[in-house]
Amino acid sequence: KNLGILLSGRGSNFEAIADNVAAGKIPAQISVVISNRADAGGIESAKRRGLNALVIPSKGVPREEHDRRVVKALQDHGVDLICLAGYMRLLSPWFVQQFPRRILNIHPSLLPAFPGLEASKQAFDYGVKVSGCTVHFVDEHLDHGDIIVQKVVPVLDNDDDHTLAARILEQEHIAYSEAVRIVLSDSFKVVGRRVVATAQ
Ligand code: GRF
Repeated sequence: KNLGILLSGRGSNFEAIADNVAAGKIPAQISVVISNRADAGGIESAKRRGLNALVIPSKGVPREEHDRRVVKALQDHGVDLICLAGYMRLLSPWFVQQFPRRILNIHPSLLPAFPGLEASKQAFDYGVKVSGCTVHFVDEHLDHGDIIVQKVVPVLDNDDDHTLAARILEQEHIAYSEAVRIVLSDSFKVVGRRVVATAQ
C-alpha cells in the first residue's frame, strides 16, 4: 500500500511514521510527501530520506485549483491512504469525497474537546486535568470524523502549555502509526462513530 503525507510544518509526525515504515512496522511505503509551504521542515526531512517531496503552494491560489493539484499528485503517485500530519488547511468536501475513509488526521487534544489551532494550549488554559491526542478519519468538518485512536495524557501540576504539548506530541508519534496499521489492515469496523480493530 502507498501512503501520501500532507504537511505544512516541522513534520515530526511524518518522521515518526517514516521511521516505522523504514523499520518494517508499517506494511506500506511512503510514495509522496506534499507541503503547501516551501519552508516546511518536513519537506527537507522527506528529501533527506530520499522520498518524493513536492511543494504545491496554496498561497494566492483559489482553493478548488489547489485541491485539484494536490488530488492529482496523490493519484499520480498511486496513494491508497493519506495522512494529514500538521497540514494547516481544511480539505474541501470534493477533496474528501475523492478518498472515502482514506484520509486520516491527528489532533493534539481529546476530540471533540478543543478543535482548531493551539489545541494543547486551549486545553491547558481551560484547566483540564487530562488531555491527549486523537487520530480520526477526515470528513468535511474541521478536526471531525470517526475516531480511530486516542491517547490520554495527564496534565501535571507543574506543567505549562509547552511541557504539556511536548508530552502530547510523544503520544501523537505512537498513536499515528497505530491508527495507520489499523486502517491498512482493513480489519476494522465502525461502530457508531468509533473505529474498532477486529481480529485479523
Ligand atoms: C501536531 O501537534 C498535530 O497534532 C497537529 O499539528 C502538529 C504537527 O506537528 N495537527 P508536526 O509537524 O507533525 O511536528
